[in-house]
Amino acid sequence: MKRKATNTLMRSLFDEPSDEVQSGLLGATAEKLQRLDTNEALRERLLPFCRLGYGGIWHDPIGHHRVGVLDATNGADVKSIMGDEKAKLVISDPPYNVVVGHGTSSSLSKINLQNYLEFTERWVCNSIDIMNADAHLYIWIGADYRDGFQPLADVIILMRKFKELAPRNLITLRNQRGYGTQHNWMWVRQELLYYVKGNPTFNVEAEYTDIPKILRGYYKVVNGARTENLQRSKSQFIRAGNVWVDLQQVFYRMEENTPGCYAQKPLKAMERIMRSASNEGDLVADFFAHSGTTLIAGERLGRKVYTFDIDPVFAEISIRRLENYRQTGKTGWQWRSPFTEVTYAKRGAT
Ligand SMILES: C[S@@+](CC[C@H](N)C(=O)[O-])C[C@H]1O[C@@H](n2cnc3c(N)ncnc32)[C@H](O)[C@@H]1O
Repeated sequence: MKRKATNTLMRSLFDEPSDEVQSGLLGATAEKLQRLDTNEALRERLLPFCRLGYGGIWHDPIGHHRVGVLDATNGADVKSIMGDEKAKLVISDPPYNVVVGHGTSSSLSKINLQNYLEFTERWVCNSIDIMNADAHLYIWIGADYRDGFQPLADVIILMRKFKELAPRNLITLRNQRGYGTQHNWMWVRQELLYYVKGNPTFNVEAEYTDIPKILRGYYKVVNGARTENLQRSKSQFIRAGNVWVDLQQVFYRMEENTPGCYAQKPLKAMERIMRSASNEGDLVADFFAHSGTTLIAGERLGRKVYTFDIDPVFAEISIRRLENYRQTGKTGWQWRSPFTEVTYAKRGAT
């Protein structure tokens, strides 16, 4: 989830564009495309500029990637993009079933828990089908303390059903900014479930952060000499472990920011997963593309990515993000719009 802020300028990122933003009077750096999932009118205006409709698949003319407008719960849709190929790694970032920002929407919605679990079961089955005999599965997920910590707890239990998958870890990504009240601990976490099918290789070097080790201690006698941990360690940097505290949450000043996409994950997080769980040339699948973070990570790391989103606008943004990266070397647009064809009209204007 992207960083939320309270001042007028930032509030405008998540609401209808204010008159000031629309007329360009307010802040050159105000995001030029508002959150799309809750702004149906804006989505409708963008649809004519999307090259794919439902069922469509874009085949990358330069690399080997594919981007589709498909439904993760539909086995035939998944087959249409995967063909007979199998993925070494599946990264999944489905809607969390937690109300985000100011509301809910068709693509990032909150639904009845039972329906959510049925949705989850369907896309997980489809993921298992397209996974290599030895492959990794990562699932980003949230927990709603206002609603019995669903769906995290329920999804963990549901996952026990899939005998092909073995749980490997429960990772927490710490956000810099959180939400909550003065009467509770601030909520700054997002969860990442990690499962494997078979016995895939884990590239442990991907685990190292760029945070130098500074603590001494853990004295141990080695070959008769008393050594401390820094002497014995394989790296001068600390490992990420399963609590990731070193990744910046995406916000409008960052190069990778993709306006319109409310649920964008940090590129560095996707790259960490990809480095640890795949090698150059491997196929990585992501059924919930949104801003195309997995696609960009794959492009940068030499993986082949097949990804899709049920919403044509997010599929289009993913393709544009890749094209923009290739043309400019930039991983996103900061506050600028991925749709230069559309400029805001004054409120009330047609
Ligand atoms: C949390 S976002 C993914 C964020 C992404 N990892 C990123 O960094 O931009 C979830 C996405 O799933 C899409 N989605 C929801 N239901 C879907 C379905 N049945 N099949 C495919 N995509 C779906 C939504 O449109 C939304 O863009």
